[in-house]
Amino acid sequence: MTYTEHFQKIVEDQLARVEKLKNSSPVPDFAAKEKIIIGTIDGDGIGPVIMDSCRAILEKLLADDIASGKIELRKIEGLTIENRIAKMETVPADVLAAIKECDLLLKGPTTTPGKGDNLPNIESANVTLRRELDLFANVRPVVIPEKNIDWIFYRENTEGEYALGSRGVEINDDISIDFKVTTTIGTTRLAKAAFEYAKNNGNKNVSIVTKANIMKKTDGKFLSLCYDVAKDYPQIKTDDWYVDIMAANLVNDQINSNFNVFILPNLYGDIITDEAAQLQGGVGTAGSANIGGRYAMFEAIHGSAPRMVEDGIAEYANPASINRAAVMMLRHIGFTDQAAALEKVLDEAQDALSLPGDGTGNTAEDFTEFVLQRI
Ligand code: IPM
Ligand code: MG
Repeated sequence: MTYTEHFQKIVEDQLARVEKLKNSSPVPDFAAKEKIIIGTIDGDGIGPVIMDSCRAILEKLLADDIASGKIELRKIEGLTIENRIAKMETVPADVLAAIKECDLLLKGPTTTPGKGDNLPNIESANVTLRRELDLFANVRPVVIPEKNIDWIFYRENTEGEYALGSRGVEINDDISIDFKVTTTIGTTRLAKAAFEYAKNNGNKNVSIVTKANIMKKTDGKFLSLCYDVAKDYPQIKTDDWYVDIMAANLVNDQINSNFNVFILPNLYGDIITDEAAQLQGGVGTAGSANIGGRYAMFEAIHGSAPRMVEDGIAEYANPASINRAAVMMLRHIGFTDQAAALEKVLDEAQDALSLPGDGTGNTAEDFTEFVLQRI
Protein backbone atom coordinates (compact mmCIF):
# COMPACT_ATOMS: atom_id res chain seq x y z
CA MET A 1 0.00 0.00 0.00
CA THR A 2 1.32 3.47 -0.81
CA TYR A 3 1.29 6.22 1.82
CA THR A 4 -1.56 7.90 0.01
CA GLU A 5 -3.61 4.69 0.02
CA HIS A 6 -2.82 4.11 3.70
CA PHE A 7 -3.96 7.62 4.58
CA GLN A 8 -7.03 7.30 2.41
CA LYS A 9 -7.97 4.06 4.22
CA ILE A 10 -7.53 5.70 7.62
CA VAL A 11 -9.74 8.60 6.65
CA GLU A 12 -12.42 6.28 5.24
CA ASP A 13 -12.40 4.16 8.40
CA GLN A 14 -12.76 7.24 10.59
CA LEU A 15 -15.59 8.62 8.46
CA ALA A 16 -17.37 5.26 8.75
CA ARG A 17 -16.81 5.25 12.51
CA VAL A 18 -18.37 8.69 12.86
CA GLU A 19 -21.42 7.56 10.89
CA LYS A 20 -21.81 4.59 13.25
CA LEU A 21 -21.50 6.85 16.29
CA LYS A 22 -24.50 8.83 15.13
CA ASN A 23 -26.64 5.74 15.90
CA SER A 24 -25.02 4.70 19.17
CA SER A 25 -27.30 3.47 21.94
CA PRO A 26 -28.06 5.44 25.12
CA VAL A 27 -27.17 4.35 28.67
CA PRO A 28 -29.64 1.61 29.74
CA ASP A 29 -32.13 2.09 32.58
CA PHE A 30 -30.48 -0.22 35.10
CA ALA A 31 -33.29 0.09 37.65
CA ALA A 32 -35.75 -1.31 35.08
CA LYS A 33 -33.45 -4.14 34.00
CA GLU A 34 -34.41 -7.57 35.26
CA LYS A 35 -30.80 -8.70 35.45
CA ILE A 36 -27.53 -6.81 35.37
CA ILE A 37 -24.59 -8.93 34.24
CA ILE A 38 -21.22 -7.82 35.54
CA GLY A 39 -18.38 -9.52 33.70
CA THR A 40 -15.20 -9.82 35.75
CA ILE A 41 -11.85 -10.11 34.00
CA ASP A 42 -8.68 -10.95 35.91
CA GLY A 43 -6.15 -9.69 33.39
CA ASP A 44 -2.39 -10.19 33.77
CA GLY A 45 0.31 -9.81 36.40
CA ILE A 46 -1.18 -8.70 39.71
CA GLY A 47 -4.65 -8.71 38.08
CA PRO A 48 -5.85 -12.04 39.54
CA VAL A 49 -4.75 -10.97 43.04
CA ILE A 50 -6.66 -7.68 43.05
CA MET A 51 -9.66 -9.13 41.22
CA ASP A 52 -10.02 -11.94 43.79
CA SER A 53 -10.21 -9.22 46.40
CA CYS A 54 -12.81 -7.23 44.52
CA ARG A 55 -14.98 -10.25 43.72
CA ALA A 56 -15.00 -11.42 47.36
CA ILE A 57 -16.00 -7.93 48.48
CA LEU A 58 -18.78 -7.59 45.89
CA GLU A 59 -20.10 -11.07 46.64
CA LYS A 60 -20.62 -9.99 50.23
CA LEU A 61 -21.85 -6.47 49.49
CA LEU A 62 -24.34 -7.61 46.83
CA ALA A 63 -25.28 -10.95 48.40
CA ASP A 64 -29.03 -10.18 48.36
CA ASP A 65 -29.07 -8.95 44.76
CA ILE A 66 -27.02 -11.93 43.62
CA ALA A 67 -29.38 -14.30 45.47
CA SER A 68 -32.45 -12.66 43.90
CA GLY A 69 -30.93 -12.79 40.41
CA LYS A 70 -30.87 -9.01 39.90
CA ILE A 71 -27.07 -9.12 39.68
CA GLU A 72 -24.86 -11.78 38.16
CA LEU A 73 -21.09 -11.71 38.61
CA ARG A 74 -19.75 -13.60 35.60
CA LYS A 75 -16.08 -14.50 35.35
CA ILE A 76 -14.75 -14.06 31.83
CA GLU A 77 -11.67 -16.11 31.02
CA GLY A 78 -9.08 -15.72 28.31
CA LEU A 79 -8.11 -12.07 28.33
CA THR A 80 -4.53 -12.95 29.23
CA ILE A 81 -1.37 -11.99 27.43
CA GLU A 82 -0.61 -15.70 26.84
CA ASN A 83 -3.94 -16.41 25.17
CA ARG A 84 -3.89 -13.15 23.25
CA ILE A 85 -0.45 -13.91 21.84
CA ALA A 86 -1.34 -17.55 21.13
CA LYS A 87 -4.30 -16.35 19.07
CA MET A 88 -2.52 -13.22 17.83
CA GLU A 89 -5.65 -11.24 18.62
CA THR A 90 -5.72 -8.25 20.95
CA VAL A 91 -9.08 -9.36 22.32
CA PRO A 92 -9.78 -12.90 21.05
CA ALA A 93 -13.11 -13.11 19.22
CA ASP A 94 -14.70 -15.58 21.67
CA VAL A 95 -13.66 -13.40 24.62
CA LEU A 96 -15.11 -10.30 22.97
CA ALA A 97 -18.37 -12.15 22.28
CA ALA A 98 -18.59 -13.18 25.96
CA ILE A 99 -17.86 -9.59 27.01
CA LYS A 100 -20.62 -8.24 24.79
CA GLU A 101 -23.16 -10.42 26.59
CA CYS A 102 -22.49 -8.48 29.79
CA ASP A 103 -23.77 -5.03 30.73
CA LEU A 104 -20.76 -3.96 32.72
CA LEU A 105 -17.17 -5.04 33.07
CA LEU A 106 -14.88 -4.97 36.02
CA LYS A 107 -11.42 -5.49 34.66
CA GLY A 108 -7.99 -6.11 36.11
CA PRO A 109 -4.95 -4.68 34.30
CA THR A 110 -3.85 -6.30 31.04
CA THR A 111 -0.29 -6.29 29.80
CA THR A 112 0.44 -4.18 26.74
CA PRO A 113 3.52 -5.32 24.82
CA GLY A 114 5.87 -2.42 24.24
CA LYS A 115 9.02 -2.00 22.21
CA GLY A 116 11.78 -4.22 23.58
CA ASP A 117 9.47 -6.61 25.47
CA ASN A 118 10.25 -9.45 23.08
CA LEU A 119 6.52 -9.96 22.58
CA PRO A 120 4.59 -9.53 19.36
CA ASN A 121 3.55 -5.91 19.20
CA ILE A 122 -0.22 -6.45 19.55
CA GLU A 123 -2.40 -3.52 20.49
CA SER A 124 -3.35 -2.75 24.08
CA ALA A 125 -6.44 -4.75 25.14
CA ASN A 126 -7.69 -1.63 26.95
CA VAL A 127 -7.53 0.44 23.83
CA THR A 128 -9.29 -2.26 21.80
CA LEU A 129 -12.05 -2.71 24.37
CA ARG A 130 -12.60 1.02 24.71
CA ARG A 131 -12.93 1.24 20.96
CA GLU A 132 -14.98 -1.97 20.41
CA LEU A 133 -17.44 -1.09 23.19
CA ASP A 134 -17.32 2.64 22.34
CA LEU A 135 -16.45 3.65 25.90
CA PHE A 136 -15.97 7.31 25.14
CA ALA A 137 -15.53 8.87 28.58
CA ASN A 138 -12.79 7.84 30.97
CA VAL A 139 -13.79 9.24 34.34
CA ARG A 140 -11.18 9.38 37.10
CA PRO A 141 -11.81 11.03 40.47
CA VAL A 142 -8.96 12.10 42.76
CA VAL A 143 -9.79 13.31 46.26
CA ILE A 144 -7.31 14.61 48.84
CA PRO A 145 -9.42 15.89 51.75
CA GLU A 146 -6.54 17.36 53.78
CA LYS A 147 -5.65 19.59 50.83
CA ASN A 148 -9.27 20.37 50.03
CA ILE A 149 -8.74 18.73 46.63
CA ASP A 150 -11.78 17.29 44.89
CA TRP A 151 -10.94 16.60 41.26
CA ILE A 152 -12.61 14.57 38.58
CA PHE A 153 -11.05 14.00 35.18
CA TYR A 154 -13.10 13.44 32.04
CA ARG A 155 -10.59 11.97 29.64
CA GLU A 156 -11.62 11.36 26.04
CA ASN A 157 -11.21 7.62 25.66
CA THR A 158 -11.49 6.47 22.05
CA GLU A 159 -9.93 9.16 19.89
CA GLY A 160 -7.01 11.57 19.97
CA GLU A 161 -3.61 9.94 19.85
CA TYR A 162 -5.09 6.51 20.62
CA ALA A 163 -7.53 6.15 17.71
CA LEU A 164 -4.77 5.29 15.24
CA GLY A 165 -1.98 4.55 17.70
CA SER A 166 -1.23 1.24 15.99
CA ARG A 167 -1.74 2.54 12.47
CA GLY A 168 1.07 5.03 12.08
CA VAL A 169 3.60 4.76 9.26
CA GLU A 170 7.30 3.97 9.30
CA ILE A 171 8.23 5.83 6.14
CA ASN A 172 11.84 4.65 6.14
CA ASP A 173 14.76 4.35 8.57
CA ASP A 174 14.68 8.10 9.09
CA ILE A 175 11.03 9.00 9.57
CA SER A 176 7.95 7.72 11.41
CA ILE A 177 4.55 9.40 11.46
CA ASP A 178 1.57 8.89 13.79
CA PHE A 179 -1.92 10.34 13.55
CA LYS A 180 -4.26 12.07 15.98
CA VAL A 181 -8.05 12.28 15.54
CA THR A 182 -10.67 14.65 16.95
CA THR A 183 -14.33 14.31 15.95
CA THR A 184 -17.24 16.60 16.69
CA ILE A 185 -19.41 13.84 18.10
CA GLY A 186 -16.56 12.32 20.13
CA THR A 187 -15.62 15.58 21.82
CA THR A 188 -19.15 16.89 22.26
CA ARG A 189 -20.46 13.82 24.05
CA LEU A 190 -17.48 13.81 26.40
CA ALA A 191 -17.85 17.53 27.17
CA LYS A 192 -21.59 17.07 27.80
CA ALA A 193 -20.89 14.27 30.27
CA ALA A 194 -18.38 16.47 32.12
CA PHE A 195 -20.66 19.52 32.25
CA GLU A 196 -23.62 17.39 33.36
CA TYR A 197 -21.51 16.04 36.20
CA ALA A 198 -20.41 19.58 37.13
CA LYS A 199 -24.03 20.79 37.09
CA ASN A 200 -25.37 17.86 39.12
CA ASN A 201 -22.69 18.36 41.75
CA GLY A 202 -23.24 21.99 42.64
CA ASN A 203 -21.97 23.69 39.47
CA LYS A 204 -18.34 22.80 39.97
CA ASN A 205 -15.67 24.63 37.95
CA VAL A 206 -14.74 23.10 34.60
CA SER A 207 -11.25 23.35 33.10
CA ILE A 208 -10.49 22.32 29.53
CA VAL A 209 -6.94 21.07 29.03
CA THR A 210 -5.31 20.99 25.58
CA LYS A 211 -2.20 21.98 23.69
CA ALA A 212 -4.23 23.89 21.12
CA ASN A 213 -1.38 26.34 20.49
CA ILE A 214 0.63 23.49 18.94
CA MET A 215 -1.88 20.79 17.89
CA LYS A 216 -3.93 23.37 16.08
CA LYS A 217 -6.36 21.20 14.17
CA THR A 218 -7.20 18.44 16.64
CA ASP A 219 -6.80 20.20 19.99
CA GLY A 220 -8.06 23.43 18.46
CA LYS A 221 -11.29 21.65 17.50
CA PHE A 222 -11.50 19.94 20.88
CA LEU A 223 -11.19 23.27 22.68
CA SER A 224 -13.77 25.13 20.64
CA LEU A 225 -16.27 22.23 20.86
CA CYS A 226 -15.92 22.18 24.66
CA TYR A 227 -16.66 25.91 24.76
CA ASP A 228 -19.69 25.32 22.49
CA VAL A 229 -21.05 22.86 25.06
CA ALA A 230 -20.19 25.30 27.87
CA LYS A 231 -22.68 27.79 26.39
CA ASP A 232 -25.49 25.50 27.61
CA TYR A 233 -24.15 25.83 31.16
CA PRO A 234 -23.75 29.58 31.70
CA GLN A 235 -23.85 29.15 35.49
CA ILE A 236 -20.64 27.06 35.41
CA LYS A 237 -17.26 28.78 35.53
CA THR A 238 -15.27 27.39 32.60
CA ASP A 239 -11.64 28.07 31.72
CA ASP A 240 -8.93 26.46 29.62
CA TRP A 241 -5.26 25.67 30.11
CA TYR A 242 -2.41 24.16 28.17
CA VAL A 243 -1.47 20.73 29.44
CA ASP A 244 2.09 21.67 30.42
CA ILE A 245 1.05 24.44 32.80
CA MET A 246 -1.80 22.26 34.08
CA ALA A 247 0.76 19.61 35.01
CA ALA A 248 2.47 22.32 37.07
CA ASN A 249 -0.80 23.66 38.52
CA LEU A 250 -1.73 20.29 39.97
CA VAL A 251 1.34 20.37 42.23
CA ASN A 252 0.90 24.07 43.09
CA ASP A 253 -0.76 24.01 46.51
CA GLN A 254 -1.60 27.72 46.22
CA ILE A 255 -4.15 27.07 43.48
CA ASN A 256 -4.73 23.34 42.94
CA SER A 257 -7.84 23.16 45.12
CA ASN A 258 -9.58 25.70 42.85
CA PHE A 259 -9.88 23.09 40.09
CA ASN A 260 -12.76 20.60 40.05
CA VAL A 261 -13.74 19.05 36.71
CA PHE A 262 -11.21 18.58 33.93
CA ILE A 263 -11.88 17.76 30.28
CA LEU A 264 -8.90 16.38 28.37
CA PRO A 265 -8.02 14.69 25.09
CA ASN A 266 -6.93 11.08 25.43
CA LEU A 267 -3.14 11.22 25.84
CA TYR A 268 -3.00 14.27 28.10
CA GLY A 269 -5.71 12.63 30.19
CA ASP A 270 -3.61 9.50 30.46
CA ILE A 271 -0.61 11.42 31.73
CA ILE A 272 -2.34 13.96 33.95
CA THR A 273 -4.47 11.32 35.71
CA ASP A 274 -1.38 9.36 36.74
CA GLU A 275 0.11 12.56 38.14
CA ALA A 276 -3.11 13.32 40.02
CA ALA A 277 -3.41 9.77 41.35
CA GLN A 278 0.17 9.94 42.61
CA LEU A 279 -0.70 13.07 44.60
CA GLN A 280 -3.56 11.13 46.20
CA GLY A 281 -1.20 8.39 47.36
CA GLY A 282 -0.20 6.42 44.27
CA VAL A 283 -1.65 5.06 41.06
CA GLY A 284 -2.81 2.05 43.11
CA THR A 285 -5.32 4.25 44.91
CA ALA A 286 -7.49 5.63 42.10
CA GLY A 287 -10.35 3.98 40.23
CA SER A 288 -11.31 4.51 36.64
CA ALA A 289 -14.64 4.29 34.80
CA ASN A 290 -14.90 3.87 31.04
CA ILE A 291 -18.40 4.98 30.18
CA GLY A 292 -20.15 4.41 26.87
CA GLY A 293 -23.77 4.05 25.81
CA ARG A 294 -24.63 0.36 25.88
CA TYR A 295 -21.55 -0.67 27.92
CA ALA A 296 -19.35 0.57 30.73
CA MET A 297 -16.07 -0.84 32.01
CA PHE A 298 -14.50 -0.18 35.38
CA GLU A 299 -10.84 -0.77 36.08
CA ALA A 300 -7.81 0.07 38.16
CA ILE A 301 -5.81 2.94 36.73
CA HIS A 302 -2.50 1.16 37.22
CA GLY A 303 -0.89 -1.48 35.03
CA SER A 304 -0.32 -5.21 35.55
CA ALA A 305 2.96 -4.64 37.44
CA PRO A 306 4.84 -7.63 35.95
CA ARG A 307 7.86 -6.68 38.07
CA MET A 308 5.92 -7.43 41.25
CA VAL A 309 5.17 -10.90 39.90
CA GLU A 310 8.81 -11.49 38.83
CA ASP A 311 9.98 -10.37 42.27
CA GLY A 312 7.51 -12.78 43.92
CA ILE A 313 5.61 -10.04 45.73
CA ALA A 314 2.30 -10.11 43.81
CA GLU A 315 0.42 -10.89 47.04
CA TYR A 316 1.35 -7.37 48.21
CA ALA A 317 -0.54 -5.73 45.33
CA ASN A 318 -2.92 -3.00 46.46
CA PRO A 319 -6.56 -3.83 45.59
CA ALA A 320 -7.71 -0.28 46.45
CA SER A 321 -7.85 1.00 42.90
CA ILE A 322 -10.01 -1.82 41.51
CA ASN A 323 -12.30 -1.56 44.54
CA ARG A 324 -12.62 2.20 43.97
CA ALA A 325 -13.57 1.32 40.40
CA ALA A 326 -16.24 -1.00 41.83
CA VAL A 327 -17.62 1.96 43.82
CA MET A 328 -17.93 3.92 40.58
CA MET A 329 -19.67 0.94 38.97
CA LEU A 330 -22.20 0.70 41.78
CA ARG A 331 -22.98 4.43 41.43
CA HIS A 332 -23.32 4.01 37.67
CA ILE A 333 -26.12 1.44 38.12
CA GLY A 334 -27.84 3.42 40.86
CA PHE A 335 -26.69 1.26 43.80
CA THR A 336 -25.77 4.42 45.69
CA ASP A 337 -26.11 3.07 49.25
CA GLN A 338 -23.86 0.11 48.54
CA ALA A 339 -21.39 2.43 46.80
CA ALA A 340 -21.27 4.76 49.79
CA ALA A 341 -20.86 1.85 52.20
CA LEU A 342 -17.95 0.41 50.25
CA GLU A 343 -16.33 3.80 49.78
CA LYS A 344 -16.42 4.49 53.50
CA VAL A 345 -14.65 1.22 54.30
CA LEU A 346 -12.09 1.80 51.54
CA ASP A 347 -11.27 5.18 53.11
CA GLU A 348 -10.81 3.44 56.46
CA ALA A 349 -8.57 0.82 54.84
CA GLN A 350 -6.48 3.56 53.24
CA ASP A 351 -5.86 5.09 56.67
CA ALA A 352 -5.39 1.84 58.58
CA LEU A 353 -3.32 -0.26 56.20
CA SER A 354 -0.13 0.30 54.26
CA LEU A 355 0.32 -1.27 50.82
CA PRO A 356 3.26 0.47 49.17
CA GLY A 357 3.61 -2.34 46.63
CA ASP A 358 7.27 -3.06 47.35
CA GLY A 359 6.77 -6.29 49.28
CA THR A 360 6.50 -4.61 52.66
CA GLY A 361 3.45 -3.75 54.75
CA ASN A 362 0.05 -5.36 54.29
CA THR A 363 -0.99 -7.90 51.68
CA ALA A 364 -3.98 -7.84 49.37
CA GLU A 365 -5.53 -10.49 51.59
CA ASP A 366 -5.15 -8.28 54.68
CA PHE A 367 -6.92 -5.58 52.73
CA THR A 368 -9.76 -7.88 51.69
CA GLU A 369 -10.22 -9.21 55.23
CA PHE A 370 -10.26 -5.66 56.59
CA VAL A 371 -13.00 -4.64 54.15
CA LEU A 372 -15.05 -7.86 54.52
CA GLN A 373 -15.18 -7.43 58.29
CA ARG A 374 -16.58 -3.92 57.98
CA ILE A 375 -19.15 -4.03 55.18
C1 IPM B 1 -4.61 3.87 31.39
C2 IPM B 1 -3.47 3.03 30.91
C3 IPM B 1 -3.74 2.63 29.46
C4 IPM B 1 -3.79 3.88 28.65
C5 IPM B 1 -2.74 1.63 28.89
C6 IPM B 1 -2.68 0.39 29.70
C7 IPM B 1 -3.05 1.33 27.46
O1 IPM B 1 -2.28 3.71 31.05
O2 IPM B 1 -5.74 3.35 31.45
O3 IPM B 1 -4.40 5.03 31.74
O4 IPM B 1 -2.78 4.35 28.15
O5 IPM B 1 -4.89 4.40 28.49
MG1 MG C 1 -2.46 5.59 32.03
